[in-house]
Amino acid sequence: MKGAIKICADALIKERNYLTELDTKIGDGDHGINMARGAQSVLDELDDQPEASTASELVKFVGEAFLMNVGGSAGPLYGSGFIAASKALAGSKVALDAKTIGRFLHEFNAAVQKRGHAEAGDKTMLDVTIPLEKVFADNEDMPLADLLKLGRDTVRDSVEYTKELEARRGRASYLGARSIGFIDPGAASAAIIWREASLYIEKNFIAQPAVEA
Ligand SMILES: Nc1ncnc2c1ncn2[C@@H]1O[C@H](COP(=O)(O)OP(=O)(O)OP(=O)(O)O)[C@@H](O)[C@H]1O
Ligand SMILES: [Mg+2]
Repeated sequence: MKGAIKICADALIKERNYLTELDTKIGDGDHGINMARGAQSVLDELDDQPEASTASELVKFVGEAFLMNVGGSAGPLYGSGFIAASKALAGSKVALDAKTIGRFLHEFNAAVQKRGHAEAGDKTMLDVTIPLEKVFADNEDMPLADLLKLGRDTVRDSVEYTKELEARRGRASYLGARSIGFIDPGAASAAIIWREASLYIEKNFIAQPAVEA
């Protein structure tokens, strides 16, 4: 889990300018700064987490770091989302499978919705994470590698689709119809996290088929 967290945090720091650029168009231009600050605070304390930390405890630590160190809307939303989602990984019998990832996404979305009162279609990060949750809920029997890939494809399309939506939450909503045509920054950061996490799971936890000579 530490490896997955590190890779996601590195990617958010690397994509800081891209996320800020998106937020400059329909917000106040701080989303990249906010996400990079959260990611850096996670990296600063990741090695101090006990060796015996469970996956659930590490995800909770990430949520608390975002909650404590990141201002704006996205920090508290990601923070409460990850803290809630960590519960899906608790318990000794938890397996890294479609059901667990589906539960993780469900808890994340429920917490973000409880805190921010946004719905699907409001042009927020939820327009990536809700379709992603649906992929896992609808395809529990699909092999995990296929599901992770389907998740990535869905997320890519969902980010693009936020262009067509009119913002109804956050600063972008002040623009009304003028927010149409632009990608939602929070949707883009959620997509970066999923892309990195799902590729990490694929690489490290799923046996690759033998390559034909
Ligand atoms: N109520 C909400 N529910 C879910 N996501 C939200 C909500 N409000 C904003 N967001 C997400 O947060 C992103 C903006 O995060 P940012 O780090 O820029 O914080 P901010 O500048 O305080 O946000 P905002 O001005 O949108 O309130 C948006 O692109 C959107 O995806
Ligand atoms: Mg902003």
